[in-house]
Amino acid sequence: MTQTKHAIIRNYPVVGRARYWMEALRPKIYQYFVESDIDGSPVNRVDRSTIYQRAKRELDSQPFGTQFNVYAEGYEWMAHSIQPHDFDLMEKDPRVIIGGKDCLQPYSASILNVSAMSYGSLSSNAVEALNGGAKIGNFAHNTGEGGISDFHLKQGGDIIWQIGTGYFGCRQEDGNFSETLFAEKSALPQIKMIELKLSQGAKPGHGGILPAAKNTPEIAAIRHVTPHTTVFSPPFHKAFGSPREMMLFIARLRTLSKGKPIGFKLCIGQQREFYALCKAMIETDIYPDFITVDGGEGGTGAAPPEFSNSVGMPLMDALPFVHDTLTGFNIRKQVKIIASGKVLTGYHILRAIALGADTCNSARAMMMALGCIQALVCNTNKCPTGVATQDKWLSAGLVVDEKKHRVANYHRDTVESAIELTAAAGLKDPHQITRRHIFRRVFMNQVRSFEDIYPSTVPGCFANGQTPEHNIGMIEIDSWGQG
Ligand SMILES: Cc1cc2nc3c(=O)[nH]c(=O)nc-3n(C[C@H](O)[C@H](O)[C@H](O)COP(=O)(O)O)c2cc1C
Ligand code: SF4
Repeated sequence: MTQTKHAIIRNYPVVGRARYWMEALRPKIYQYFVESDIDGSPVNRVDRSTIYQRAKRELDSQPFGTQFNVYAEGYEWMAHSIQPHDFDLMEKDPRVIIGGKDCLQPYSASILNVSAMSYGSLSSNAVEALNGGAKIGNFAHNTGEGGISDFHLKQGGDIIWQIGTGYFGCRQEDGNFSETLFAEKSALPQIKMIELKLSQGAKPGHGGILPAAKNTPEIAAIRHVTPHTTVFSPPFHKAFGSPREMMLFIARLRTLSKGKPIGFKLCIGQQREFYALCKAMIETDIYPDFITVDGGEGGTGAAPPEFSNSVGMPLMDALPFVHDTLTGFNIRKQVKIIASGKVLTGYHILRAIALGADTCNSARAMMMALGCIQALVCNTNKCPTGVATQDKWLSAGLVVDEKKHRVANYHRDTVESAIELTAAAGLKDPHQITRRHIFRRVFMNQVRSFEDIYPSTVPGCFANGQTPEHNIGMIEIDSWGQG
């Protein structure tokens, strides 16, 4: 009654406390007792169960038919064929070669890989188990922007090294990019590709903070920063200041890494900036080997709610935009597209391919394969499953030798399910899936194919200087054009 912060407790000291307990218990009660199989956010229970069952190699079939309302707006399905392909004759692990004309060490990628998550946001055991899974299943593991740690290297799985605005792992003392450190680290044979991070869907346009408390001597050594200090990653890169300079930087990274594939990751914001990047590619004749398109629905360890909820284009809009823009400029063949944003099942992989992806990345499904129960406290260091915490006691609960197999199991069964769906559509290769194979109910009695919703662009149609919305001739490549 004497405290002054909370009016309810001041007025009702005993009963008032119950309200706070109920608030704390609400998410748990909801998840265990109220949530139906088709809701649950960000990942519904149906998809969660599929991931867990695949990871544990338990039965992943479902009795009695779909639980989804197939007449609800937004329901989607894939069209099968009267003459499906023989699944036994299909390639079960289709690969995509990433590496354009200037790449000297192309990488043969799986169609599903582990999306960027740093050591720091994930525990050491989680990072090691993800890499162990990648090794067993022959797929790639993205380091996230926090640099390369021993836990990434220990198991020997293929690595994509992500470089964010903090240049962690290849950073001079003043926070600028270090050529020497980059050349040294990129030479590691385990590093197969390098990804320059421009933005991520959960917080596009927002930088990062490594709080002093989390900046342990171990993490500081990996990131090349001073321990026990707060380190800020700016929301923009200091190594380049325009689309043209960005392409020159990509060429510099390619030379320094002795020709490894170099790409960039972004969540689409202002479309004219992406047109400017394409124009810069053409004018400099420097192409990234891949572009990772992250949807606004993407996950994170921690982000301001407004950025997570209301900034950045969702994947299903961004992916066709990127594919169609590259096609319109006639440069799609030079660049591979990687898609991320709730790619959880075989159907999601095929849907992404239909919209323009070559391969996919998954972050949260891989976390679930590790045991994440969607408790949604990743930002508190109290993750109960030891996935997203630096608490040694909690992370000890995650046993690397057990969980790495779960990651590999989830990957294998999900890729196989994409192949099975491909066979059902009467096709030999998942990359033959087009927008004509997928349908969505847009109103109670109206259905559209993806080709109707996202009409394909004719290759090279932007060559006359026009895009659908902008005169490309007016787009500047020596600045980002923000005035
Ligand atoms: C715990 C966590 C940490 C992440 N860290 C990074 C990061 O360091 N760099 C990055 O580009 N994206 C990061 N992401 C975003 C993911 O790589 C991915 O783009 C996004 O979550 C969408 O994929 P999903 O829907 O499969 O989770 C992180 C996501 C999570 C959940
Ligand atoms: S269990 Fe909860 S806190 Fe841990 S990673 Fe999953 S969502 Fe985050």
